[in-house]
Amino acid sequence: MSGAGNGARTRDLLLGKQTLCRLSYPRQRARQVYPGLCVAVRNALLTRGNPLKLGLFGSNCSNGRSYTTVKERWDASWDNNLELAQLADRVGLECLVPIARWKGYGGQTNVNGSSFESIAWACGLLAATQDVNVFCTVHVPLIHPLVAAKQMATVDHVGKGRLGVNVVCGWNEDEFHMFGVAKHEHDDRYEQGEEWWSVIRRIWSGEPPFDFDGRYYQLGSVQGQPLPYGTGRPLMMNAGSSPRGRSFAIQNSDMHFDGVRSPEASAARITETKQQAQQIGREVQIWTPVGVICRPTQREADECIQYLVDNADWGALGHLAEMHANDARGRTDIEGMYRRRGDDPLERQVLARGSYCAIGDADHVASELQKLQAVGFDGLVLNFVNYLDELPFFAQEVLPRLEAGGVRKPYRQSSTETVLA
Ligand SMILES: Cc1cc2nc3c(=O)[nH]c(=O)nc-3n(C[C@H](O)[C@H](O)[C@H](O)COP(=O)(O)O)c2cc1C
Repeated sequence: MSGAGNGARTRDLLLGKQTLCRLSYPRQRARQVYPGLCVAVRNALLTRGNPLKLGLFGSNCSNGRSYTTVKERWDASWDNNLELAQLADRVGLECLVPIARWKGYGGQTNVNGSSFESIAWACGLLAATQDVNVFCTVHVPLIHPLVAAKQMATVDHVGKGRLGVNVVCGWNEDEFHMFGVAKHEHDDRYEQGEEWWSVIRRIWSGEPPFDFDGRYYQLGSVQGQPLPYGTGRPLMMNAGSSPRGRSFAIQNSDMHFDGVRSPEASAARITETKQQAQQIGREVQIWTPVGVICRPTQREADECIQYLVDNADWGALGHLAEMHANDARGRTDIEGMYRRRGDDPLERQVLARGSYCAIGDADHVASELQKLQAVGFDGLVLNFVNYLDELPFFAQEVLPRLEAGGVRKPYRQSSTETVLA
């Protein structure tokens, strides 16, 4: 069954300039003949490699993660997102993580008022990049697991195993209201998340049609093809600092996104999370979001953050704080109290919605990021006020410093497919 005569298509898979195998070549045979080649390992950049992995967070949304009215704020157009993803791919960042947002936060600029739906966004970016992982962010209570499983499997094929999924159990009252969906109590939302993820995992494992009789889903003869690309399934992350959010991650997630008040204060907590995962035979990476302003001098970086604060979008910040306070109403755990109080330093609120920030010259920014790695973080997702304007300087100045510090290796983009050992 080969040759133009009988219509069969043969297409070369190229590694560099060397022809390795043809599509019609049995995959198992290829593994034997070319050990270490032609076998796609999924989510490769995230599962191996750099002690400190880096991603970009929030570029699918207008304003990104910054609550400021300055004219330089992020315009989340498709062209900007595409250019940014291709730049991230070229400089060797490990991933892009979107925000699933259905409604803006109001204020003068209606922060996040325009946002690309994240599964469709990931699909487009995966088609246009080579190595970088692209996440989608999916709201458990808003998207049926069978629909999500098929959409994500489809996109994972487009990306040849580079899709990841951020499972969000929901907190934003405005969005629940808009969908006409009742918001369950905090911990119950994670219970629903467990069921949702369990249905998806079972579909993706390729088990025979199954019935699911849960508290939130009662499903008959469930199945879904295709399975995700290659072997295994997309990596899954969730963010939750609450005790229940963290236990969800320990039980289910490949990556847990935790909050940082100070790097030092995170060390014991990270160790504990990883140990608890190990005790049940799991490995969990710990990540956190970081807002970055990197300028040639510390003074310029300080002036920049002052400019952002002077032009903060107070209306949007106020609305966000109000919703956070509502969401954490009644919580007695320490993270819930932080969320309710919303007393993060102003610069963090404006630049990165309350997340940890690295603001300064390249030496300072690199040392801040290394500090986070030293206390146990495996990865950081960064936001810039204007990702496209600011990433090139970061890549040029900070990445080499991280390489010199031994937390990242110089990056060489693969020439066709992600190549694996
Ligand atoms: C990195 C990161 C990504 C998040 N992405 C979203 C998102 O896209 N949409 C959303 O509604 N919430 C998002 N959240 C909020 C979380 O899903 C979660 O509600 C929040 O961390 C509070 O969880 P907790 O109550 O368990 O502490 C994100 C949080 C973080 C830190």
